[in-house]
Formats: sequence, C-alpha cells, structure tokens
Amino acid sequence: MSDEKKGPEPKGLARNAANYGDKEFALYLRRSFAKSMGYSAEALKRPVVGIVDTGSDLNNCHRTAPELIEAVKRGVLMAGGLPLAFPTISLCEPYLTPCSMHYRNLMALDTEAMIAAQPMDSVVLIGGCDKTVPAQLMAAASAGTPAVQLVVGPMSANRYQGERLAACTDCRRYWARYRAGEVSGERIQEIEGSLAVTAGTCGVMGTASTMACLTSTLGFMPLDAASIPAVHSDRLRAAEEAGAQAVRLIHKPVRPDEIITEKSVENALRVLLALGGSTNALVHLAAIAGRVGIKIDYHRLNELSDTTPVLVDLKPTGEGYMEDFHTAGGMVALLHELRDLLHLDTKDLDGVTLADRIGAGPAFVDRTYIKARNEPVSPVGGIVSLFGSLAPDGAILKRSAATPSLFEKEARCLVFDGVEDLAARIDSDDLDVTADDITILKGAGPLSTAGFPEAGYLPIPRKLARQGVKDMVRMSDCRMSGTAFGTVVLHISPEAEAGGPLGLVKTGDRIRLSVENRSLDLLVDEAELAKRRAEWKAKSEPKRGWDALVHREVLQAPQGADLRFLLPEGR
Ligand code: FES
Ligand code: MG
Repeated sequence: MSDEKKGPEPKGLARNAANYGDKEFALYLRRSFAKSMGYSAEALKRPVVGIVDTGSDLNNCHRTAPELIEAVKRGVLMAGGLPLAFPTISLCEPYLTPCSMHYRNLMALDTEAMIAAQPMDSVVLIGGCDKTVPAQLMAAASAGTPAVQLVVGPMSANRYQGERLAACTDCRRYWARYRAGEVSGERIQEIEGSLAVTAGTCGVMGTASTMACLTSTLGFMPLDAASIPAVHSDRLRAAEEAGAQAVRLIHKPVRPDEIITEKSVENALRVLLALGGSTNALVHLAAIAGRVGIKIDYHRLNELSDTTPVLVDLKPTGEGYMEDFHTAGGMVALLHELRDLLHLDTKDLDGVTLADRIGAGPAFVDRTYIKARNEPVSPVGGIVSLFGSLAPDGAILKRSAATPSLFEKEARCLVFDGVEDLAARIDSDDLDVTADDITILKGAGPLSTAGFPEAGYLPIPRKLARQGVKDMVRMSDCRMSGTAFGTVVLHISPEAEAGGPLGLVKTGDRIRLSVENRSLDLLVDEAELAKRRAEWKAKSEPKRGWDALVHREVLQAPQGADLRFLLPEGR
C-alpha cells in the first residue's frame, strides 16, 4: 500500500458490462435502462459507489438502514460519486431457523456475488447484527472491490424501574430468574417490551459490538465509528463520512486483502481479548482471515491471551453498556492503553498507520469502563483455547465470563445428543444431575443440522436452578451468544458429527478440564473408545439446497466454519 498509489480510471456504470459479442450495445442498453430511473447523463458518468442495503422487516437491529443509506448517499454525492444502493440478504439473530449462523456463509456468498457482478467501483457495506459484518467482510475480501464498513451502531439502554436494560444479557438474566421461580410470569411479560427499545445492535459487548470493534481495528472504518449509538446524530455523520471514504477509495484503491494482514489480524485478536469480547468473534475473524489465506493459530491465541489484559468493563462480564464505552473514550482510549502490544504500522483504508490513528489518545477517558493497564479488569485475556483427548483440534473457554472455582474440574458427565434431546430432558424433575456434574451437548457443530447454533450456553437444569445453582461446567461443539456468561467450553473440534471424540462420549464418562494446563480430556480407555468408534454413525445427510451444500463443504470452527470452496484457490 504505497501513498503514491493511484488507481485505474474508475469505470462507473461501465464496469463489467455484459458482453454477448457487442459490448457497446450492452452498455448502451444499461445506460438507457438506468436513465429510466431518472438519472442524467452527467450523473451516469460518475464513478459508482455501491451501498449494501440490509434493512429488512425481519431485522430490528438494522431498522435505521434507510436513513443511513440517505446519509451515505449524501457523502458520496458531495465527494463526486454516484451512489447506488442494492439489497442483499439480511440476517437478524432471533428470526432464523435453525439459526442465523447457518446462513452467514450464504450472506457472504450473496454479497460477494452482487459486489462482483454489478457495476461499482467501491462499496459501502451496511451491517451490524452478529452475522452481517463477518459475512460482508468475508465477501469483500473475496470480491477484492475496495470496501468501507459502516455499522448501524449499538442500541441505547432503556431506563426501567431503577435499572438499565439493553437486550440480550438482560434478557438472559431475567429469563434465568424466571426459570428459577424468582420472577413471576406476569412480570416477565411486562419486561418483554422494555428490554430492547431503540434501533441498533444489542447494547452490550456481544458479538455485534465485538465485531464492530475488530472491524475498526482492522481499518475498515474509523475507530470511533465502532461504538457511536445507533440513534445518535454522529452515526449519520459517520455514514456520510463512509460515503466520502468510498469515493476516496476509488481514486486511491486499497483492496480488502491489503489491510487484512497477519499483523492486523493479530491486533484484532488482542482487541478481542482486551474487550473480554464474544467467543463468536474468534470464529468470524478466522473466516475473514481465511478468505485471504491467513490462519488463526489457537496456540498463538493462548500466548496472546496470557499477555493481554481485559480492560473493558461491559456486560456480559462487567456492568456497562456500549453507550458507556463510547462516552468513556471508545476504541481510541482502548487502543491507546494497549499500544505497546499492537503492531502500530498496520494501515487503514486511507493508508494511515494505527499509531497515527491512536495519536495521543482521547482527551478524556472514563476509567469506570475502560481501565488503565495498571488496574485491569483482569491481568490476562478473556478467552483461552484448550486441547486434549476430547478436543484434538481445540476448544475454547471464555474465562472472563466463567467461575474461577470451576476452572480445575474432574467430574462425570451428563450427555445430551442434539438440541432436541436437550430441550426434551433438561427440565425434567427426575434428571439424574447434580451441580458437580458436567453437562455436555453434542451434535450441534457446523456439520450438524442444528447449524452451529448458540446452544452452548446450556440452561442450568431446572431442578438445580430452583436450588439456587447459578453456574456449572457445560461443554459442546456449538457456540454461545456473545452476551451470555458461565463456565462454558465451546467449539469442541472436531465436532461430534465429524467423527470427533465428542461423538463417542456417553453419560457417566469422566471428563477433566484444566484451565491452568489448557487441557480438556475424556478419561475413557482407548479400547472402550475403539469399540464405540466402530459403532458410531453420522446422522442423516441433507439431500438438497443450501443445507446439502453446507453439509458437503463446511469447515470446522478453527477454520471459521466457512465453506471449503469459498477459500482462496489452492488453500
Ligand atoms: Fe442483532 Fe443482537 S440481535 S445484535
Ligand atoms: Mg448475539
């Protein structure tokens, strides 16, 4: 990325004109059809900025998409470009079956194809809800078109009867109290309308917020744009700036793979750890990096985790909300604290180094939410990876959201074979379980028909919840919401459905977890495992459509659960 670099002449509407033997005619046709929308000949000569519209009546998080698009358009027009918005798939967490993750790669495929197929010189990606930003960055990395990320921003916390509420973590907290019989049915219904009251992504440091912070670290948007609230006027100014940025990129192009580098990915991992961020971001970052041929090494993750303090004190692990992080100094304050741990020579879309982006830090930092290095929330990072006979290719644990007294544990396990089995039995009064057991969910990884859901936060069995049990060791081959908390081992790889050792585990087996040794072992002798392996069968395979394609091509969690055929050629 040289500062002198000039791009090729923008092609605008002429880019990728179809060629059925008479290219001139194809372009003539395209222009005449574009004129049917009222554009002048002058407008159609301008370089084109595509704007990905992910607004949808099934996406509450993105309900400001129309006004953001207007602001992006203003920025593009002021900078001399022609803004053309177009729709892609939109994914919002609560509305998809079997789960939104099952469709992240479909959104990436759709977005990549539409960026590559339609005429645009650069693109603004409007995303926000958990799977959307990863899908868009995966798409941009593969399409190679200069891309700016704009997130919709986090929702604002509600004030409700003396407390603050902003979606998932609070939803979970109240629901757990309801399950335990501490909150009545009437009250839980009354609170339903108070948990999420503005547009924007979940207001805590969940997956959406974490991905916004990582995306700004990578350089796809300004640092402060990661956390501006969805409903704040600054969010519209950020959108206007995203439009202007997209025009600058046309004249001085930077391909996405020039800023997704070994160093910038490592910076993003540091930030993930320092945020105490979502475990899902690890899967998404692996998928984004994988699109340019970079692999995330779980052993390196542990080295980074041991040398990166958690500095941000937001829910689900702490007390604050994203609006607090923003006013506390946001990403600039955080990166300023971390600067000696970062590769400061990585560059953003304007070619500005991370050192210059951080500068001298913000004028004001609220230490309630962004701690100084000498007073961290935790001296070590939020996530560790574990290896052992139960997880030969690794598993992860969000230690910042877990109970330290459960870190070293050997116990018998209670196994649920798939999400239906879990739902059918977890609340039965005669379930043979104590708080000292380990509950396991298998058959919910990327290959499973469950689609790698956020089911890894296994509920505390109702009979234990009623006894006041708040946490116990839980394990699975699936994911957990970034807004959840507990001693939960996730992403066990290879997953059960891929024939991993997890698929052989039976109720009553003993398991040993040691966070100190970073190990996870199944204490069953090899002869018994060989017998079980000989009897093991994969569940039925989907035969058609997207499900069949996923089943044929999906990779495991450490590779980002991307589809094999979407990796760069030769990987
Ligand atoms: Fe969209 Fe939480 S549901 S960010
Ligand atoms: Mg989430």
